[in-house]
Amino acid sequence: MWPLVVALLLGSACCGSAQLIFNVTKSVEYTICNKTIVIPCLVTNVGAQNLNEMYVKWKFKGKEILIFDGAQKKTVTSKEYQSAKITPSDLLVGIASLTVDKSEAAVGNYTCEVTELSREGETLIELKYRTVPWFSPNENILTVVFAILAILLSWGQFGIVTLKYKSNQTKEKIILLFVAGLLLTAVVVVGAILFVPGEYSTKNASGLGLIVIPTVILILLQYCVFTIAIGMSSFTIAILILQVLGYVLSLVGLSLCVSECISKNGPLLISGLGIIALAELLGLVYMKFVASNQKTIQPPRNN
Ligand SMILES: *[C@@H]1O[C@H](CO)[C@@H](O)[C@H](O)[C@H]1NC(C)=O
Ligand SMILES: *[C@@H]1O[C@H](CO)[C@@H](O)[C@H](O)[C@H]1NC(C)=O
Ligand SMILES: *[C@@H]1O[C@H](CO)[C@@H](O)[C@H](O)[C@H]1NC(C)=O
Repeated sequence: MWPLVVALLLGSACCGSAQLIFNVTKSVEYTICNKTIVIPCLVTNVGAQNLNEMYVKWKFKGKEILIFDGAQKKTVTSKEYQSAKITPSDLLVGIASLTVDKSEAAVGNYTCEVTELSREGETLIELKYRTVPWFSPNENILTVVFAILAILLSWGQFGIVTLKYKSNQTKEKIILLFVAGLLLTAVVVVGAILFVPGEYSTKNASGLGLIVIPTVILILLQYCVFTIAIGMSSFTIAILILQVLGYVLSLVGLSLCVSECISKNGPLLISGLGIIALAELLGLVYMKFVASNQKTIQPPRNN
């Protein structure tokens, strides 16, 4: 009885009313990056020294989702909010914030009701969801553009080879190149269709994988085209090394990006793809240059 009277006296003496006062937060937001969600509920004038005196009730759209009964030292959650919890030991310093897994959180208005002996109060917090894109729209576009550009340039090289160096000896090789180029193009187009701007998703991530990983075929294609058309030289080797570097860069970028809910390494991946496209461009220009010189000079013997 005495503690009750003292608490009542203290309560009215300190605040002039039997109300608990909250640090009001109108709304909190979460994104795809939050694993757990914390809905704040902060009481500024808790006077209780013992958890026995505390009682907390969280409601969502009027339905009870969590009840903490200090006298019984028990927390009860509703079926839809199995992961919901508060930290009882924090209650005495005024923290009644609700923690819940993202999978169970729903946007809307939450009510936090705190009772401390005869004093009580409640506060309303709105939980909002904010959509954040995985890649910026520009990064999305550049990724697809560089990959498609590299493929188009590769087809350009293929065109030069088929027009200039038709011989029975290379026919099979050319058919192989054609099939490989066709497969690569199909896979990257599918990837580009899946890799639409938006939040991180498995679909997006697989799209990006389909765009980036198969570009290794471009290295093989360019190597074959070089050997068929102009033979290897230190310049073609340099181009191929550049292309391998671009590929490694884009792979590293890819592996970093797929582990981020908001990609920070998009530029790394894009510069990798850009370098691949550049290597294809250099190869095409060089082949065109050598091919036009070969009108007057004897073409290299096929080995
Ligand atoms: C979501 O995560 C951000 C960054 O970690 C944090 O500031 C924010 O409070 C979190 N939102 C919720 C509702 O927990
Ligand atoms: C309430 O807010 C004030 C000022 O913003 C801060 O000093 C105080 O620590 C907060 N109270 C709680 C219980 O977090
Ligand atoms: C939550 O409550 C606020 C203020 O009462 C209201 O403006 C808002 O529309 C409500 N939000 C939802 C999702 O019901």
